[in-house]
Amino acid sequence: MKELILVTGGTGYIGSHTVVELIKEGFDVVIIDNLSNSTTESLDGIEQITGIRPDFEQFDLLDLQRLEQFFASRPSLKAIIHFAASKAVGESVEKPLLYYRNNLNSLINLLHCMVVHEVSPIVFSSSCTIYGQPRELPVTEQAPILPAESPYGNTKQICEEILADSISAFNVLKAISLRYFNPIGAHPSALIGELPRGVPNNLVPYVTQTAAGVLPELKIYGNDYDTPDGSAIRDYINVVDLARAHVTAIRRLIAGKNSEPLEYFNLGTGKGTSVLELVQTFEQVTGVKVNHRIVGRRAGDIEKVWADTTKANETLGWKAIHSLDETLLSAWNWEKRLRDIK
Ligand code: WQD
Repeated sequence: MKELILVTGGTGYIGSHTVVELIKEGFDVVIIDNLSNSTTESLDGIEQITGIRPDFEQFDLLDLQRLEQFFASRPSLKAIIHFAASKAVGESVEKPLLYYRNNLNSLINLLHCMVVHEVSPIVFSSSCTIYGQPRELPVTEQAPILPAESPYGNTKQICEEILADSISAFNVLKAISLRYFNPIGAHPSALIGELPRGVPNNLVPYVTQTAAGVLPELKIYGNDYDTPDGSAIRDYINVVDLARAHVTAIRRLIAGKNSEPLEYFNLGTGKGTSVLELVQTFEQVTGVKVNHRIVGRRAGDIEKVWADTTKANETLGWKAIHSLDETLLSAWNWEKRLRDIK
């Protein structure tokens, strides 16, 4: 009997790649998504890659009554991977109430239903944003959680606290919080990938859209940081590597191998890459020039961050395996397919 996993936000960027890996690993998957930042095209891509079209229900996790009905209709539900959340840092500054309502209440409703229906394991999508600008690098899971730089980052911090308090109160729950660094790239088939609505906030889709001629030029936000080439440094992780970490985490919880009821893991490559290095690498691996210009720093940006991956490698038993070269190439192949570029 296949184990049934609920993936909230499963038509989104990281969610759809995780659904592919879950299906490949022999799980049954059901997706809940409100399609506020994705489309059902990702279901087509998942089906083309795996040969299986996962169950899909379109509704908002803020609709508690509907969520209750969902849980009642799926008594065999084994575990949950929770991606559904608003995630644009800049937008969260303009619309804080939307971010607090959506990101906090959706988790609260989910946890309520898990307790009532005795569904125990949950993998939560967190972010390295919660560390702010770490004082020490690479950053470990024990690094202090600094005051969030944005409402988005604050919702991730508060959600981790909601998880911790819920686990203390209801011993039926057990959770793993995965703290992503910077997810980039696309599935090697180029059938699923990142589909930012409107002008991208994140660097790599901006690079690929500039390379494709969709955008006129990439603005590089600052080259006066205290880094070798002056541009900011991040830990860019391949989205398929990231997806596989979720399968490893859910297996760990289902098998009861977690060493405490709530575990945290940093998911990165352990390597820092500057903006300028990323652009140069993209141009080298694709042979396509990226028209770019240095401008002033972006408000809220930190200078440099990359992960200490020891705990994820040794305790979780997961390691990122894709190089930056092949990851940027996968992003470019996805963009070319989107724009019908040969
Ligand atoms: C990366 C670097 C920019 C765009 C965000 C979220 C974080 C996580 C990952 C969800 C920075 C520079 C960017 C551009 C640029 N998301 N940049 N020109 O801000 O590190 O992290 O995505 O969990 O929560 O905050 O990612 O891709 O926006 O920026 O120079 O047009 O690229 O200044 O140094 P960020 P990013």
